[in-house]
Amino acid sequence: MGIIETQEKIRKLLADRNAILLAHYYQRNEIQDIADILGDSLALSIEASETMADVIVFAGVQFMAESAAILSPDKTVILPRSDAGCPLADKITAEELRKARAENPGAKVVTYVNSSAETKAHSDICCTSANAVRIVNSLDADTVLMVPDGNLARYTSQFTEKKIIPWKGFCYVHDNLSPGEAQRAKDQNPGALFAAHPECRAEVLAMADFVGSTGAILKFARESDAEKIIVGTEKGIMHQLKKQNPDKTFIPASDNLICVDMKRITLDDILSSLLEMKHVVTVPEEIRIPANLALSRMLEASK
Ligand code: 13P
Ligand code: SF4
Repeated sequence: MGIIETQEKIRKLLADRNAILLAHYYQRNEIQDIADILGDSLALSIEASETMADVIVFAGVQFMAESAAILSPDKTVILPRSDAGCPLADKITAEELRKARAENPGAKVVTYVNSSAETKAHSDICCTSANAVRIVNSLDADTVLMVPDGNLARYTSQFTEKKIIPWKGFCYVHDNLSPGEAQRAKDQNPGALFAAHPECRAEVLAMADFVGSTGAILKFARESDAEKIIVGTEKGIMHQLKKQNPDKTFIPASDNLICVDMKRITLDDILSSLLEMKHVVTVPEEIRIPANLALSRMLEASK
């Protein structure tokens, strides 16, 4: 079956099942093109919490589908590929977090949404890359333990008076972007601006003209007068950058900015997931309730 035929079948099945397709900007282009909502982690969480659909098909990774199941327990949440995980989310276990909490009494725990439901359940509040600074500054504590992404924690620490204790996790895609590669892209494109995601290393972020979530990078690109922008995040974002700004040029800061997990889901996987209603993502109530508290506090503080 060709791409267009598969896309049409998916759209029809979505309508038949009163289902909504949520997709992250790192998904394959042909999936982005048929999504009901395309967004960054924050926008997709908000949509998952507010949708009137009966079924949420999540074109993203495990933690995103889990967050949807936590926020909307009465909906059926489907992740088309059960092996689409996020290695960053696996960089801390609930047990490790419990121990870190005990070692830092008085600290509030801010957990990046790129984490397991169980880790969220042991947290005070969640954050995404779009709202981390705001979330940290909203807390009534002087010390904040930020897990699992150390790069996001170190970046956030520049915009708060609070003491930030970063966890040692990292995203292999963004952390892999070296200052040398970023410099090479800059040298090869004089005059271009450099926009980077806060999951990148501090040395790379120090070279950036703009730092923000995928949604924020898209906004920056739309509003900037720059004709050329070097992009320091996963390459999937290029599709929307080019679509939204046909007259501007976007250059990936490295050819290696590809998240294998985000690319696992194909159109065929989405089609079979809708036909067979698989893989349904659920979170046990004893984990869902405290995890929901941490996520809902984040959504409230982001309004
Ligand atoms: P945002 O969607 O918050 O930009 O995060 C990027 C990411 O790595 C999602 O896995
Ligand atoms: Fe996880 Fe990084 Fe992939 Fe995002 S880009 S899903 S943080 S591994």
